[in-house]
Amino acid sequence: MGWFSLLSLLFFLLPFSSFQTSSNVSSSSIIHHPSPLCHPYERSALIQFKNSFSINNTIASDYYECDGIDPSTISWAKNDASNCCAWRGVTCDEKAGHVIGLDLSCASLQGAFHSNSTLFFLRNLQSLHLSQNDFGGSTIPSEFGKFSDLEHLILYDSNFLGNVPPEISYLSKLVTLDLSWNNIHKLKVDTFTLKRIVTNLTNLEAFYLSRVDMSSVSPVVLMNLSSSLINLTLSLCSLGGNLPADYIFHLPKLEMLYLGGNENLTGSLFPKSNRNTSSPLKRLSLFDSKLLIDFPYLIQNFKYSLEFLYLGSCKILGWNPTLLANLTQISVLDLSSNNFGGEIPWSSLMHLERLISLDLSDNNFTGQLPEISSYNSTQLSFSYDNSSNSLTSGGPLPLELESLYLSDNLLDGKIPGWLYSLKSLENLDLSSNQFTGYIEEFQFHPLVSLDLSNNKLRGSLPSSIFQQVNLTFLDLSSNILSGDVGINDFSKLKRLEYLSISENQLSGEIPSSICDLNSLNYLDLSNNSLTGKVHPCLGNFSISLSVLNLHTNKLHGTIPLTFAKGNSLRNLNLNGNQLGGILPQSLVRCKKMEILDVGNNKINGTFPYWLESLPMLQVLILRSNRFHGSIDVSPKTALPFQTLRIMDLSDNEFSGNLPTKYFKNLLAMMDAYSDQLTYMGEDQYYESTIVVIKGFFIELVKIQTMFTTIDLSKNNFEGEIPKLIGKLKSLKGLNFSHNKLTGTIPSTLENLSNLEWLDLSSNELVGEIPQQLTNMISLEVLNLSKNRLVGPIPSGKQFNTFDNTSYSENMGLCGFPLSKICGNNEAPQSPTTKFEEEGGYGFDWKIILVGYGCGIVIGVSLGYIVLSNEKFTLFLIKIGFSNLLYA
Ligand SMILES: *[C@@H]1O[C@H](CO)[C@@H](O)[C@H](O)[C@H]1NC(C)=O
Ligand SMILES: *[C@@H]1O[C@H](CO)[C@@H](O)[C@H](O)[C@H]1NC(C)=O
Ligand SMILES: *[C@@H]1O[C@H](CO)[C@@H](O)[C@H](O)[C@H]1NC(C)=O
Ligand SMILES: *[C@@H]1O[C@H](CO)[C@@H](O)[C@H](O)[C@H]1NC(C)=O
Ligand SMILES: *[C@@H]1O[C@H](CO)[C@@H](O)[C@H](O)[C@H]1NC(C)=O
Ligand SMILES: *[C@@H]1O[C@H](CO)[C@@H](O)[C@H](O)[C@H]1NC(C)=O
Ligand SMILES: *[C@@H]1O[C@H](CO)[C@@H](O)[C@H](O)[C@H]1NC(C)=O
Ligand SMILES: *[C@@H]1O[C@H](CO)[C@@H](O)[C@H](O)[C@H]1NC(C)=O
Ligand SMILES: *[C@@H]1O[C@H](CO)[C@@H](O)[C@H](O)[C@H]1NC(C)=O
Repeated sequence: MGWFSLLSLLFFLLPFSSFQTSSNVSSSSIIHHPSPLCHPYERSALIQFKNSFSINNTIASDYYECDGIDPSTISWAKNDASNCCAWRGVTCDEKAGHVIGLDLSCASLQGAFHSNSTLFFLRNLQSLHLSQNDFGGSTIPSEFGKFSDLEHLILYDSNFLGNVPPEISYLSKLVTLDLSWNNIHKLKVDTFTLKRIVTNLTNLEAFYLSRVDMSSVSPVVLMNLSSSLINLTLSLCSLGGNLPADYIFHLPKLEMLYLGGNENLTGSLFPKSNRNTSSPLKRLSLFDSKLLIDFPYLIQNFKYSLEFLYLGSCKILGWNPTLLANLTQISVLDLSSNNFGGEIPWSSLMHLERLISLDLSDNNFTGQLPEISSYNSTQLSFSYDNSSNSLTSGGPLPLELESLYLSDNLLDGKIPGWLYSLKSLENLDLSSNQFTGYIEEFQFHPLVSLDLSNNKLRGSLPSSIFQQVNLTFLDLSSNILSGDVGINDFSKLKRLEYLSISENQLSGEIPSSICDLNSLNYLDLSNNSLTGKVHPCLGNFSISLSVLNLHTNKLHGTIPLTFAKGNSLRNLNLNGNQLGGILPQSLVRCKKMEILDVGNNKINGTFPYWLESLPMLQVLILRSNRFHGSIDVSPKTALPFQTLRIMDLSDNEFSGNLPTKYFKNLLAMMDAYSDQLTYMGEDQYYESTIVVIKGFFIELVKIQTMFTTIDLSKNNFEGEIPKLIGKLKSLKGLNFSHNKLTGTIPSTLENLSNLEWLDLSSNELVGEIPQQLTNMISLEVLNLSKNRLVGPIPSGKQFNTFDNTSYSENMGLCGFPLSKICGNNEAPQSPTTKFEEEGGYGFDWKIILVGYGCGIVIGVSLGYIVLSNEKFTLFLIKIGFSNLLYA
């Protein structure tokens, strides 16, 4: 199903647009001298400063910029006890021997930063670099204002919070001030402090405030910015109001201006006075702001300097794609989400010989891929100079293209052959198009990720793919691939983390070489015609595997008996096969298991009570198997099934009383509502599963954690419905139909105010329908048919919406909507409440039909289920994503 691959694609893309601040000032700007001896008090101040924090190596490992930097930096004293000037990160003044530079970025320091810190004894500091540590949400001490010689103060991403102290304005020698990305708790700056800073710091060249909360700042303050300014970043600052753009764009040295992500920032980038005076602007980011941008003016003024231009989701006036050709220096161009239409302006883009990244996604462009193969080699490289042959000289584009993302377009025909000549191509995404043709012919150079999902490709898995030793991501799902998978040798794909070949017509047995994929995290072979047994090695899979999806195949035999200790399995889906035997008890070793779906098989045995100890199990689907026996057992663990949200045991041969003792403990189903939308699964891949909602099979692509259901229908349960069922307040669906339940309907059901469907049909229930059930204000589907109920049907609220099928074949019921009128002694309670539409959660049932096996799956878009089905035109080329800078 396309949604899933689309979602995973989106997440896959995210890292490439990761934000990166840009503080390139390092201690290298200060001369290192090998031998001055340090002053003892400075030495002890450094030691005490270091000792006031703990070293937590996970801090630096969270920052990719810290890669390769050994966080055990501070083995200071051990290295050279006498001379702190020789310590790593420490720079001293050549003559006087004072510490003038300290670089402890990525040092994994963790702990509070106190105002009595001995750091403040180092009064001669000129450069202080403390970024990418964790100062535990401390405020920035006002004592920083005492470093009167400081030229570079770099505190980005260090978990400071609170207000920027006004004393920073004392640092009048500052050239670089970086306070950006202290956003875990939010660092704030107010107008007063900012005005003092920009007024007094007349040497400031680089000022980075991205992600600092500036919601209370009036942008007029920026009129006081020093004319020395070269780099200014104010992205994602909640800066609102009218920007004095004319002033800022005339700062004579300004090269970098980042204002993106300030949704309330207004003003216009129009020439008011002199059209031709402007900054030598190289990097401009205005994405997601409300600034009015006069496009011709922008090009006119900055065409010779602009290198990075981010205009995603902007208010662009005077759009004219032919002007793009004038951006001769541009290397990164983002025009996404602007609803631009017309043909992709290839003829302009072809001239941009320095372009390495182009993002035109989420617009309304039409047209075709450029017929690059019909151009001459020079044009193939987008080279402007017709005489240079960039094929041999290794021109910039597109022979060196590393990534090409073309998903969600209307591209058809065969996969263009010129792709195979892209020798540097590592990431290719052609998913969700209409490509046809046979996949065997593919001849790619070294690929790292390949997504061809959701096309119309035919043929068997190409043998060339199994030679791609660098492949980490392979998605060929939702095509028309066929042939025997068993003959493929996966063993060379040692780096593969994601493998999906689901929704094809592949046959054969699962080759055991799949088990050699030691890096595999996600394996989806579902919806094919795979036969044979589930190879035992799949139970003993690499420790890293978290999703194993084999549903809807023709697998037989038993479920592999040995699930390895310490495995990472979160989602095991074997639904819709012909698996027999019993459920292996070694599943209890899957401590991270969230979804276990073995429905629609031939599994027998008694209820796997031992699953109750799985601490994260949220979805348990045993439906349509041959399980039998009583479930009404005493739990073996203190908190059985405490996280379970979806329990589907229907269509088995369970007997005895309903599992009251478990109901008592289903804590996750008693939770009060949380408004927060949380989804199961980790960041990268949302869990998906198929559940039954209101009688339809529905694939939940994201399972929202407040979605809870119990389905025990089609078994041989007997006895009464326990009153404490009313405790499971967050239940959305309850199905006890087709059993042998007796007794009356408990009035405690009234507490299930979130319940949307209730099916108690085909049982032996007696008595009246409790009037209290009208308190189930979310109820949309009710089925009480085929019981022995008597008396008047309650009226009011939701009960006024049900028709007679809800009550059929109960000989003793009367009143609306049945035609049988109640006698005198069974007069209906008068409808006191007028029907109000108080479903409360405003569900919007958009039903989308998608084929699923032999049955039907209905995708539903509700408040709590998110299917990504937005049709948008995506056109995106990215090359060398490490060059993508956002700040
Ligand atoms: C401005 O930013 C650019 C890009 O990050 C960087 O190369 C340059 O050194 C910065 N200039 C100053 C003065 O910090
Ligand atoms: C290290 O830091 C991480 C992230 O802040 C935290 O979860 C963990 O508990 C810390 N470890 C120690 C030993 O303090
Ligand atoms: C510094 O201040 C903190 C908190 O106010 C206190 O716990 C600590 O003992 C002080 N350290 C010194 C060396 O005075
Ligand atoms: C400006 O900087 C000077 C030091 O150069 C300092 O004495 C003065 O207090 C500062 N003014 C403000 C308003 O911070
Ligand atoms: C923008 O303004 C609206 C309305 O005043 C406010 O709700 C919203 O939080 C503001 N956005 C930001 C990022 O400050
Ligand atoms: C863009 O370039 C073309 C040809 O080089 C030139 O005629 C045109 O005036 C330029 N437009 C702007 C806005 O610079
Ligand atoms: C997209 O372009 C087509 C014509 O190519 C037009 O009919 C359609 O309205 C446009 N859609 C939007 C959202 O602008
Ligand atoms: C390619 O270049 C050759 C000679 O440089 C020229 O004769 C030919 O017309 C060009 N082909 C195209 C498609 O531009
Ligand atoms: C794998 O990647 C390395 C560089 O990371 C490259 O040298 C090698 O040629 C690649 N191998 C294949 C078969 O693509």
